[in-house]
Amino acid sequence: MSALLKLNSERGNQRGARVIAVTSGKGGVGKTSLVVNLSLALARLGRRVVILDADLGLANVEVLMGVTPLFTLYDCLYGTKEIDEILTPAPLGVQIVSGGSGFLELANLNSRQQQKIIDALVFFEEADFVLIDTGAGISRNVLGFVAAAEEVIVMITPEPTSLTDAYSLIKILSKFQVHRQVLLVVNRAEHEREAAAAAQRISAVANRFLEIELVHLGSIYEHRAVTRAVKRQQPFILFEPQSPPAANIGLIARRLVDGCPPVRQESAFQGFLQRIMRFFR
Ligand SMILES: Nc1ncnc2c1ncn2[C@@H]1O[C@H](COP(=O)(O)OP(=O)(O)O)[C@@H](O)[C@H]1O
Ligand SMILES: [Mg+2]
Repeated sequence: MSALLKLNSERGNQRGARVIAVTSGKGGVGKTSLVVNLSLALARLGRRVVILDADLGLANVEVLMGVTPLFTLYDCLYGTKEIDEILTPAPLGVQIVSGGSGFLELANLNSRQQQKIIDALVFFEEADFVLIDTGAGISRNVLGFVAAAEEVIVMITPEPTSLTDAYSLIKILSKFQVHRQVLLVVNRAEHEREAAAAAQRISAVANRFLEIELVHLGSIYEHRAVTRAVKRQQPFILFEPQSPPAANIGLIARRLVDGCPPVRQESAFQGFLQRIMRFFR
């Protein structure tokens, strides 16, 4: 049985949104590009998707999606906005929650603010996928999100530095013992052979030294369509749907949807919040 299918059967009778954090050891490997385009590919497959932009440094998701958030989570927790007022609509019904500096303060929420977060759950419960775009590296904030999310995608490129940084990150994740599996996406590969080799290299070391399984979820090829899309602030999956990276993303979405359906007993998102609060405290 493939690792993904195994994951599928282990998920059992689950319900609620699947929370997937996208992270990397090294910055600039293509996380935001993946989150933006994958959200749209999942939406095309009829799934309801919410993106949490938790990269506190840069509000990249909105930029690559070509939308402008009027408010952020900060306005909800510290201002007068309700959760439905801070959702930024994106194409194909995707919705974006901008973290702003709101995420930084999770540890210090008062009861009114905690209630607001709980109210927010109603929205996320109805989604099929919550994709979290995190920053790179092993800072407390990044790790908080990754450790709290039920599933994690670690993005790598075939460059040696990307692989070593990703390995350090995965090593820390394996110590948390939250995930039994890490999904790998290899970006900027020249061809499938190169991507498979990169995934194989890191998996071999992880298999030997870490108690965590690496699953090669998919690959995205190096292509000008990605840079063109960034410059135009339009997702390549919409702007150049026939391009190789658009096809790559389509396959990743298909695998996620086919490989592990979102059926769950307890709400993944409630679990996510409980874990993240614990982590920040
Ligand atoms: N498959 C690809 N082909 C060509 N360029 C890419 C590809 N993926 C990413 N890039 C380039 O890398 C830059 C950084 O991507 P981004 O998604 O912002 O990375 P991250 O979120 O990990 O920092 C993009 O602006 C784009 O120019
Ligand atoms: Mg980014």
